[in-house]
Amino acid sequence: MYGNDFTTPDARPRPTPDAGDEPATFRAIIGDDGRVEPRDEMPEGYRKTLVRQIAQHAHSEIIGMQPEGNWISRAPSLRRKAILMAKVQDEAGHGLYLYAAAETLGVDRADLLDALHEGRQKYSSIFNYPTLTWADVGAIGWLVDGAAIVNQVPLCRCSYGPYARAMVRVCKEESFHQRQGFEILHTLSHGSAAQKAMAQDAVNRYWWPSLMMFGPADSGADDSRGHTAQSMAWGIKRFSNDDLRQRFVDMTVPQSEALGLTLPDDAIAWNEERGHYDFSPVDFTELFEVIRGNGPCNAERMAHRVGAHEDGAWVREAAAAYAAKQQARREEGAA
Ligand code: 3HC
Repeated sequence: MYGNDFTTPDARPRPTPDAGDEPATFRAIIGDDGRVEPRDEMPEGYRKTLVRQIAQHAHSEIIGMQPEGNWISRAPSLRRKAILMAKVQDEAGHGLYLYAAAETLGVDRADLLDALHEGRQKYSSIFNYPTLTWADVGAIGWLVDGAAIVNQVPLCRCSYGPYARAMVRVCKEESFHQRQGFEILHTLSHGSAAQKAMAQDAVNRYWWPSLMMFGPADSGADDSRGHTAQSMAWGIKRFSNDDLRQRFVDMTVPQSEALGLTLPDDAIAWNEERGHYDFSPVDFTELFEVIRGNGPCNAERMAHRVGAHEDGAWVREAAAAYAAKQQARREEGAA
């Protein structure tokens, strides 16, 4: 169990799995809340759902290096620069663990990258927003990494072993990222009037996109009928998008007060009866537009990613040639 996890499951009943063609061994593991390992039999739908989600997650980590990478050369001090470089490097590492986890499901990393570059697989909407000021680096750390933690800590208990284990380390590092973002904003919000205004502006711009990160509504009348019910039945997702979004709001409002910054939603108020903060409905039209490729930076992010991939071709070729040479030597030695 990790710091930000929460054990009170959703009050709504867990959806009943559609038994369909599920092998008995798989149903037993899921029924016991155990871990499915790569060697275990699993239904094709389960495997495909995991490949889709883990690949999207991995792509998000590496595309997510861009908005903040943009500020490495302009960080306001050597200390800030070193911290930001380490953080961006962590995101590359997260991508690596996640591509490796996806590969245990019988897919090839190169094919997943092709799917990203050809627009056949998605990455998180959040990385299609620009980083206009240094305060945006703080807002991303505090809000985006904060939302990522709320979403990802329950994934440490995902039913697929390799994904769950990858998430343990990812979440530890994300906690550090969230704190560094909070610290940047705390410094700015306790600085000059101009610095405080810069911090407030960044929070104003990143608040709603951070709430959209959790995905479309998946409960009540607005249920978008996405993957949540099936993914919860399989123990991939542990909570609905809406429950996690609420959890994030509940966690973040008191933190904004500690920062001396406001959240751009006049409807935010503690609801004694529900035991949660109320907040305004999220504009999911914007989320779907960004997912469709029409966000402020989609084209720029993809062009940069594809360019970096093409520029790196020689590194992959050299690494493959070196590995082949080592393998041939080992075989010669064994003969
Ligand atoms: N951005 C882009 N696409 C999104 C999205 C978002 N914020 N939220 C949902 N979608 C897509 C889904 O992929 C799905 O698309 P598809 O049907 O075409 O495949 C569709 O919208 C419907 O959404 P669902 O809620 O039904 O989809 P999921 O069950 O997959 O849930 C999710 C979406 C909650 C994002 C889930 O996939 C998840 O928890 N993924 C793992 C975490 C992750 O990928 N986070 C991305 C950010 S990584 C990050 O933040 C890095 C850090 O360093 C900051």
